[in-house]
Amino acid sequence: MTQGKIWLNGSLVDWDNANIHVLTHGLHYATGVFEGLRCYKTVNGSAIFRLSDHIQRLMDSARIYFMDLGYTKQQLERAVIETVKANGMEECYIRPIAYYGYGKMGVNPLPNKVSVAIAAWKWDEYLKSSDGADKGVRMMVSSWIRIDNRAMPMRAKATANYANSVLARVEAIKAGFDEAIMLNSAGTVVEASAENIFLVKDNILVTPPISSGALEGVTRSSILAIAKENAIEYEVRNISRDELYTATEVFVTGTAAEVKPVAEIDNRTIGDGQTGKRTKELRLLFDAVVHGRDTKFSKMWLTPIN
Ligand SMILES: Cc1ncc(COP(=O)(O)O)c(C=O)c1O
Repeated sequence: MTQGKIWLNGSLVDWDNANIHVLTHGLHYATGVFEGLRCYKTVNGSAIFRLSDHIQRLMDSARIYFMDLGYTKQQLERAVIETVKANGMEECYIRPIAYYGYGKMGVNPLPNKVSVAIAAWKWDEYLKSSDGADKGVRMMVSSWIRIDNRAMPMRAKATANYANSVLARVEAIKAGFDEAIMLNSAGTVVEASAENIFLVKDNILVTPPISSGALEGVTRSSILAIAKENAIEYEVRNISRDELYTATEVFVTGTAAEVKPVAEIDNRTIGDGQTGKRTKELRLLFDAVVHGRDTKFSKMWLTPIN
């Protein structure tokens, strides 16, 4: 896939040597937690976006699964920076993961040591529209419902949650769409397979609450903060499926996907099918923040590599 160094339990190892045993607990029972971050080329050199918030979410996810990561928050932040530096990339996607390792088989993970790894690679566009690079994505509401908070702690960004996402994403792709939207067991909109979701109606930005089962996305919270700062009215409330169809704009957010317009949902064109005014505006504002051109948030949210 790519080459370079991977940080594995405190050492930088060659990409091809970052291997694990086939009886790793996390592989059999999905006992892993992970993060996704981006390093951007900013006006002041390369910098990681919201490093502290991502590592905090990793630590929170680990706490939920009784994982002792064996590193402090500061050590993990340093390790992320070290990994980016070691790979010499100006811009990249960064993937820290912690998982119960090889040792004792059986559902109980606790006898196994926790491993931590950090990889980085170039990931320019995660969510592409099949209609062309500058077009919005085509989505379908999945027949798979988002895992209920009573079944799994969805606040944790756990590998186990992604079997649900995988089923939805594959269903969407096989049906000719780009991405899936997931509803919860109450029938309200939660998020996409790996992105949070927003709509615009009557000029108001709306996104579902975390209690719907959505991941507390770092990009989502950035967009809400940027909206507030720019006096863009927003609401955090439940959204019904049919509300999506009559929205003037829909977009999804995530570290990998960034801010991506949605052109179509369940074969219904959203607005006029073009990237909407608010989506464009928020995309530009977000772009300015992550590239260090914003006066308020850039300083707060960017950690320089050097
Ligand atoms: C299920 C899910 N929802 C939302 C997001 C967006 O979160 P963030 O903006 O922190 O990347 C992600 C990606 O991490 C995700 O996997």
